[in-house]
Amino acid sequence: MSLQNAPIHTIDLIRLKRDKGTLSEPQIRHLVTGAASGSIPLEQLSAFLMAAWLNGLALDEIRALTVAMRDSGDKFSPAALGKVAVDKHSTGGVGDKTSFLVAPIAAACGLSVPMISGRALGHTGGTLDKLESIPGYRTALTLPEFEAVLNKTGCSIVSQTPTLVPADRVLYALRDRTGTVESPGLICASILSKKLAAGLDCLVLDVKTGSGAFLRDRAQADYLAALMVSTAEAAGTRTVALMTDMSQPLGQAAGNWIEIAESLTLLRGERPAASEDLRQLSLILAGWMIHLGGKADTPEAGYTLAETTLSDGSALAHFYAMVQAHGGDTTPFADPAAFHRPGATRVVPSPQTGYIAAMDTTALGWAVQRTGAGREKAGAPVDPHAGILFHARRGAHVTQGQPLATLYATHPALLDEPQALLLNSITWSPTPPPPTPLVSATFTRPTAEAHLASGLQSLRP
Ligand code: URA
Repeated sequence: MSLQNAPIHTIDLIRLKRDKGTLSEPQIRHLVTGAASGSIPLEQLSAFLMAAWLNGLALDEIRALTVAMRDSGDKFSPAALGKVAVDKHSTGGVGDKTSFLVAPIAAACGLSVPMISGRALGHTGGTLDKLESIPGYRTALTLPEFEAVLNKTGCSIVSQTPTLVPADRVLYALRDRTGTVESPGLICASILSKKLAAGLDCLVLDVKTGSGAFLRDRAQADYLAALMVSTAEAAGTRTVALMTDMSQPLGQAAGNWIEIAESLTLLRGERPAASEDLRQLSLILAGWMIHLGGKADTPEAGYTLAETTLSDGSALAHFYAMVQAHGGDTTPFADPAAFHRPGATRVVPSPQTGYIAAMDTTALGWAVQRTGAGREKAGAPVDPHAGILFHARRGAHVTQGQPLATLYATHPALLDEPQALLLNSITWSPTPPPPTPLVSATFTRPTAEAHLASGLQSLRP
């Protein structure tokens, strides 16, 4: 037998990666199919993940891992919908509710938006948990149901099905338990495998930077963005990544129902100052989706089209149609404040006078989670009415006693820890801080590949 046709043994692959070697495409596929089928024991998968975390993965390995994971289960094909399929994915933030705006906006512009979303993870909120605060909204659709909603309304936001990218279910759970989440190659393959399994033509990535981002180091965030653009493009999906600010929560609300309520305000064409960053970012992201989807010549022209869908009510109509198609009750949309019934409410006054120079947005995310809006353990229920409404933003001048935020929780006893976290998260200054741009960089295929070629590939010390 020639060595090329020799059977692949998992132990050899672990030893190769441990010794800083590079795995071939068939070797990576062996690991991924073994993870999905359960034929490779968890201790061997864990050893491989740690070796990959410690020694990094080469670009070709990341590409092979992404594609093998994409192919590990069912795939959705949007071709029958007869429209360009486009999606947006965020690396996770606090108060990040742009999905509720960009999905109906892009659908109103004639695109199809098959959006497979996640639940709250760590300090970040989950799109599905927020949607489930709408009475009756079903996030777990079968693929035929998903297709039917997309046909009817142009957009659908659902959870991952049990058979879509099963390798990621196994590997993600193991990474969570073995300290191997924060690896750019593993993050890239995990995120993109799910996006590519949805059969997207185009993808807009919102990569968060700053105190509330998963990868807080800017060089790491840039590398991840470039890696995802290059990998998705190599797999045939037109992709762009925007580096966006998460040095404070996005918009005014962070929680579940209160985020839906804030999104409805913008979808109705209103323009509250406290939600302006959310409105701007949503229009920029939607502008790129519309441009990549072929409905506008430039992202700027896409922005203008997106803005029109907010002022003419067409995005709002698509949001209503999507919610109803998912079994959701839109009656509370008429008066979102009246539907908001938290168990306990507390207004937190400012302890001093000064400028808010910085916010530890990760700590604020944990504060939101501790109100009951997020969960401690996978599968635990969340409180749809819990969360935090922020009354002062980074750069604001606040006087002592002025309300900083309103906390909503299930019980009064759950308010103390979020309040302490909130107060500790703020850095005060007698002078205003320099402003931070909402979008600090954009990676398209050429700029992503130039970035990767520039040698900034390794994140390890
Ligand atoms: N989200 C994912 O789906 N996977 C990761 O690895 C990180 C964030």
